Amino acid sequence: MTDLFSKFDPLIQQREALLASGVEDPFNLVMEKVLSPTRAICNGRETILLGTYNYMGMTFDPDVIQAGKDALDNFGAGTTGSRVLNGTYQGHKECEEALKDFYGMDHAMVFSTGYQANLGIISTIAGKDDYIVLDIDSHASIWDGCSLGNAQIVPFKHNDIDAMGKRLRRIPEGAGKLVVLEGVYSMLGDIAPLKDMIAVARKYDAMVLVDEAHSMGFIGPNGRGVAEEQGVLDQVDFVIGTFSKSVGTVGGFCVSNHPKFEIMRLVCRPYVFTASLPPSVVATAATSIRKLMHGGAKRAHLWENSRTLHGGLKALGFELGTGEPQSAIIAVIMPDLERGAAMWEALLKEGLYVNLARPPATPANMTLLRCSLCAEHSAEQVQTILGMFERAGKAVGIV
Ligand SMILES: Cc1ncc(COP(=O)(O)O)c(C=O)c1O
Repeated sequence: MTDLFSKFDPLIQQREALLASGVEDPFNLVMEKVLSPTRAICNGRETILLGTYNYMGMTFDPDVIQAGKDALDNFGAGTTGSRVLNGTYQGHKECEEALKDFYGMDHAMVFSTGYQANLGIISTIAGKDDYIVLDIDSHASIWDGCSLGNAQIVPFKHNDIDAMGKRLRRIPEGAGKLVVLEGVYSMLGDIAPLKDMIAVARKYDAMVLVDEAHSMGFIGPNGRGVAEEQGVLDQVDFVIGTFSKSVGTVGGFCVSNHPKFEIMRLVCRPYVFTASLPPSVVATAATSIRKLMHGGAKRAHLWENSRTLHGGLKALGFELGTGEPQSAIIAVIMPDLERGAAMWEALLKEGLYVNLARPPATPANMTLLRCSLCAEHSAEQVQTILGMFERAGKAVGIV
């Protein structure tokens, strides 16, 4: 019998070698207690959280929590069914109404995760004879959506407008074309030049889908994302997003002005063939989305945090993923996986949690310590974080 697990042997060996060096497993941390959006107990000690996607700190918002409790009491723990059968409750419709109001769009469809939203929308609209032109650094859920639909996949170099145009020019005339972009790329925290890219996509008559997972709530005057910030939201055919980041719970969605969009509810398999979100989750999401519409002060504070941390880390001598802060994600580039894991552990011992990211999730084989800021981090916490980075960086020999 061929052991179907043998293909994982190189990864198993790499992981065992890393753990044999005595370093704590960076992919097995347990949050023993969560005290607030920015503090938790890990390994028995209080830790500042700088590696969550809780950009707007909505997880502990009292209105959000109350809405979830009320829904749990009134509608029970789960729907036990698909959205197209018994799984659409009043709360799912209210959540979709909140999304339509948030984006100012005609249609909104809520999925059980953001992963499923990309999987479902991309695979359903772009089939075997269609072409998908996408950034090479796209999220796994985008790639998986392309594969599931069996479309012709045409990747281009990250954020390269000319390369994108060249790929589009070569596609046979009359073929269906979908350009897939992200507002913020989550590994390095850089944003896409959406305005110019969408102009090129339009020139070649391609439809455009933008995943705004890491920009919703934070970027743009109303927190609608990078497309709003760059003044091109009305040029986007489909916006994909998630509730697992700024919204502070779990779930995914697509909003669109396409007049035929509602047919997706019948033909999109990752929407039809799975259970809908629990009533408590959609109630928390709807409440959070409506509050994010008035989050201007929080957005301003989060930008301030991002600028302070970026400037401080740069001044300490760390190599960062972007020259200037472009989002709430600041990626600190590590020389290799071993020193990345050592730095991650040294920070944890200081009382700071960040994300360790490594290939294949990262571009160009990089090992990164990804810091994601929260609107609830105080200015004082950001200074504390910089002190922790300085001590850990010196101890590990990175700065
Ligand atoms: C760009 C992007 N799209 C989609 C997703 C999937 O979101 P979810 O966590 O809701 O499945 C993520 C999650 O990390 C993401 O980074």
